[in-house]
Amino acid sequence: MNPIVVTGAAGMTGRAVLAALAERGVAAAGLVRRAEQIPLAVAAGAGRAVAVDLTDRAALADAIDGAAAIYHIPPNMHPAEHELTRAVIETAERRGVTRFVLHSVLAPYLPELPHHLRKAESERALRRSSLVWTSLQPGWYAQNLLAQLLRARGEGVVAMPYSVSTPFTPVDLADVAQAAAIVLTEDGHGYASYELCGPDTLSTAEMAGIVGDLLGAPVRAERETVERWRRSAQARYPEGFEPMFAFYDRHGLAGNPRALAMLLGRTPTDLRTVLARHLGEG
Ligand SMILES: NC(=O)c1ccc[n+]([C@@H]2O[C@H](COP(=O)([O-])OP(=O)(O)OC[C@H]3O[C@@H](n4cnc5c(N)ncnc54)[C@H](OP(=O)(O)O)[C@@H]3O)[C@@H](O)[C@H]2O)c1
Repeated sequence: MNPIVVTGAAGMTGRAVLAALAERGVAAAGLVRRAEQIPLAVAAGAGRAVAVDLTDRAALADAIDGAAAIYHIPPNMHPAEHELTRAVIETAERRGVTRFVLHSVLAPYLPELPHHLRKAESERALRRSSLVWTSLQPGWYAQNLLAQLLRARGEGVVAMPYSVSTPFTPVDLADVAQAAAIVLTEDGHGYASYELCGPDTLSTAEMAGIVGDLLGAPVRAERETVERWRRSAQARYPEGFEPMFAFYDRHGLAGNPRALAMLLGRTPTDLRTVLARHLGEG
């Protein structure tokens, strides 16, 4: 088994972390939920990938046997996320894995937000474990705006189901992934919690302004109803979305970029650059 195991390896975050590790010459092992996701993880940079449902402790124990470190990415908005994470922590302890990095979230202890609170529970489990842990706490990904980029092209609108005036600090997922690769491959990050945020504090209205500049056309920010957003979300609408929108409506979700800058040795990438990169790729 490869020395670094990445869970959630076929997901958006997992593939970014595998790519950042591959850039550093590390072919990690990816754990995916379903066998058909294996090629996704391998294409992203995994040396190998194996299908394991995190609810299956025996399969999980086999899959992490011999691993030196685990990068655990909990399933997004999963109602039992903290229980799955506890299973990964306990299995790691039993299998003699010493290094554990949790993909957490900015401001985990927010009781209004169940999906944040589940990450606070996971951090608590880590602190009670025998593992040498690190918690990475990313803010709102800049990539969350990519779907709105398409919509802005067609309709001239960036629409979110919360106030367009509250502050966010969008962070580039590629920067988050590089930070993950750094704490996994360099010494000195044991027992650290790092907030990972982008360099600019922006409201949705300001983000819409940047989208308009990049598209060379006027783009306005609009607050749409949760109902309309729910209809457009189509595939999935997890229970945590409504409290999240209510919180964003009142407070946004802002954090500080300095810990990420310290890890990367440079200023984190700003939203304009992330979106321009995406438009260049598309
Ligand atoms: N988006 C943000 O702005 C942001 C910011 C900070 C932190 N985060 C956190 O980042 C994490 C990952 O988010 P993401 O957007 O990368 O999620 P994602 O793309 O949905 O990836 C999660 C992966 O976990 C897999 N999975 C689900 N249940 C599983 C199970 N029981 N056993 C094994 N694998 C399972 C999923 O497989 P299936 O496809 O089969 O379901 C999927 O491939 C989440 O915990 C989220 O809270 C996100």
